[in-house]
Amino acid sequence: MMRVAMIGGGYVGLTTGACLADLGHEVVCVDKDPRRIADLDRGKIPIYEPGLQPLVARLKKLERLSFTSDLPSATRAADVVFIAVGTPSRADGSIDLAQVEAAALEVAPHLADDALVVIKSTVVPGTCRRIADLIAGAVPGRSISVVSNPEFLREGSAIVDFMQPDRIVIGGRNAAGISRLRKLYSPFGKRNVPFVVTTPENAELIKYAANAFLALKIGYINDIANLCEQIGGDVRAVAHGIGLDPRIGSSFLAAGPGFGGSCFPKDTRALAAFGREAGAPQPLIELLIARNEDRMRGIVRRILEKIGQRAAARDATVAVFGLAFKANTDDVREAAGLTVIPMLQQAGIRVRAHDPEAMVTASQLLADVEWCDCPYGAAREADVIVVLTEWPSFRDIDVNRLAGSMRGQSVLDYRHVFNPSSAVSAGLDYWAVGAAPAAVPA
Ligand code: UGA
Repeated sequence: MMRVAMIGGGYVGLTTGACLADLGHEVVCVDKDPRRIADLDRGKIPIYEPGLQPLVARLKKLERLSFTSDLPSATRAADVVFIAVGTPSRADGSIDLAQVEAAALEVAPHLADDALVVIKSTVVPGTCRRIADLIAGAVPGRSISVVSNPEFLREGSAIVDFMQPDRIVIGGRNAAGISRLRKLYSPFGKRNVPFVVTTPENAELIKYAANAFLALKIGYINDIANLCEQIGGDVRAVAHGIGLDPRIGSSFLAAGPGFGGSCFPKDTRALAAFGREAGAPQPLIELLIARNEDRMRGIVRRILEKIGQRAAARDATVAVFGLAFKANTDDVREAAGLTVIPMLQQAGIRVRAHDPEAMVTASQLLADVEWCDCPYGAAREADVIVVLTEWPSFRDIDVNRLAGSMRGQSVLDYRHVFNPSSAVSAGLDYWAVGAAPAAVPA
């Protein structure tokens, strides 16, 4: 058992903290926001993440996980201090390290002489070294190690991803620090999970290179989807056919509305900005960012085309199914809906929307949307339905009932949630991303 202080009670800090406690450690989560701490203490989790609420409740009861705003005492008692605070984008795409630096300076005076500080936040190469220098400047003459340990958790499956990692990446120069972090993760070592032990700069770059590569796969399949639409192909068949080649792999080949979320858009922008700054521009990534942004605008162009055929834009209604950037989360950061809805409204179109989990978060960022409790309500009097999130519950929608509620017939399915022949049989003008128009069944 080791004592861990987790600085930052946001998405990464909270899930990592809870999972480390589940591995057997004693974890104190520290956050500046006293209301968040009070909520967590009462068992209220600020994010929707499957399995997190019961996990936190169980570990809190076992006294292996606790929450505090008292950073000095949590730091003093810890064998390992994690920094898991935010790294927002600046206007030029580069990341703002102010919160990481502030957290490092805040913990510094309370660290033990041989403390281990782990940078969990996603940071550009060179940050670990900078943080080590900052700490050494603030409290000179100690043997404190600063180690990079990027996270690879997906929202919506963060707990499973933590408990079944593909690899643990540790970037450090100090043998004692590396070995303490290895010990923290020893249950994974026993299961033969690969440990990638390298320099801090390599570890920091692994995180960006991994996310950017996955985003490239999505950008690539989205362009292939455009081609399929032109030639009457089906991108799912193409993705299946290429994905069976193990050099390509079948994951992250689902065409859609473009990638969103708190990571891919921000991390690709940060990598591009860092490449420019470091004298090694990343033109593939620069193009990917532009293509992805244009793809989201392309959804609006397609909706307007459909509306043009049916109604004057000023009198038109669009139903948006799905605000979350993907299923199983209430996170709407950089989700397609957040680009698409304001553009539709600017064109004078009325928007009705439904999402099973993300309406509260979305309503904080979008105005004048009619929020509907169910998809049928959202479809009422709609000229066009556009599906932007692949919620499993959307697959159970009764397309006949949907068709009956609509004013128009157009359905633009960016996530392949509907069965094409059922949709066509119900009288819908059904279009799915990367697919030829569905044939009317005989
Ligand atoms: C991503 C990475 O997958 C994690 O490994 C990483 O730890 C995390 O970022 C992070 O840096 O913290 P996440 O943002 O939760 O995780 O979401 P993903 O499941 O990767 O999806 C990102 C976006 O790509 C979503 O908008 C999703 O709909 C889209 N996507 C994903 C596709 O359009 N097609 C696909 O085949 C896969």
